[in-house]
Amino acid sequence: EYVADGPIAKRIARVTPYFPFKGIPRFYDIGGFLKDPEAFALVIEVLANRYAAERIDSICGIDARGFVLGPPIALALKKPFFMLRKKGKMPNAATGAAYAKEYAGADALAIPRGAVKPGDRVLVIDDLVATGGTLCAAVDLVKAAGGLVVECACVVELKFLKARAAFDAKGFTDVPIWALMSED
Ligand code: PRP
Ligand code: MG
Repeated sequence: EYVADGPIAKRIARVTPYFPFKGIPRFYDIGGFLKDPEAFALVIEVLANRYAAERIDSICGIDARGFVLGPPIALALKKPFFMLRKKGKMPNAATGAAYAKEYAGADALAIPRGAVKPGDRVLVIDDLVATGGTLCAAVDLVKAAGGLVVECACVVELKFLKARAAFDAKGFTDVPIWALMSED
């Protein structure tokens, strides 16, 4: 059983560097463990094991850093993968409403038409959750297509930015957020 503050999370955290960035005290970057194949494999193993017994129809990754983690999880679980891209990048896609992020202003995400069928159970993957603005936009798109989000899974959660409260305020009280490690 893997826990957020267990030895495996600590090992991954050790190779996940953080440094001051644009006034943000702690900027996490998954580049740290990507260059350590053992740590990278562990991250994927933890995430894939977590959903191995769940009914999941597809897995999506969020542009850009969710594209690094989503596909190996989808391959491990032998499930279809699709991309939620930043707006204007993908043909035949539905674009959602603009959302605010922890920093760097507003963005919008787009979902490929037909990627989610009504009733599909979708797992959403990103590297990090801060304010939850990005994940809320992803949940919006999956729900609008008639899908159900099984969970939003990330490597790092910055709990002091209260993504859970943002989800609840949007009415996504039934959508869990899970992170391998978090900072209060
Ligand atoms: C970063 C990070 C998350 C998001 C979290 O993405 O990868 O997707 O911010 O912030 P939030 O919870 O406040 O929305 P960003 O769009 O900055 O960059 P990226 O394209 O490199 O993933
Ligand atoms: Mg991102």
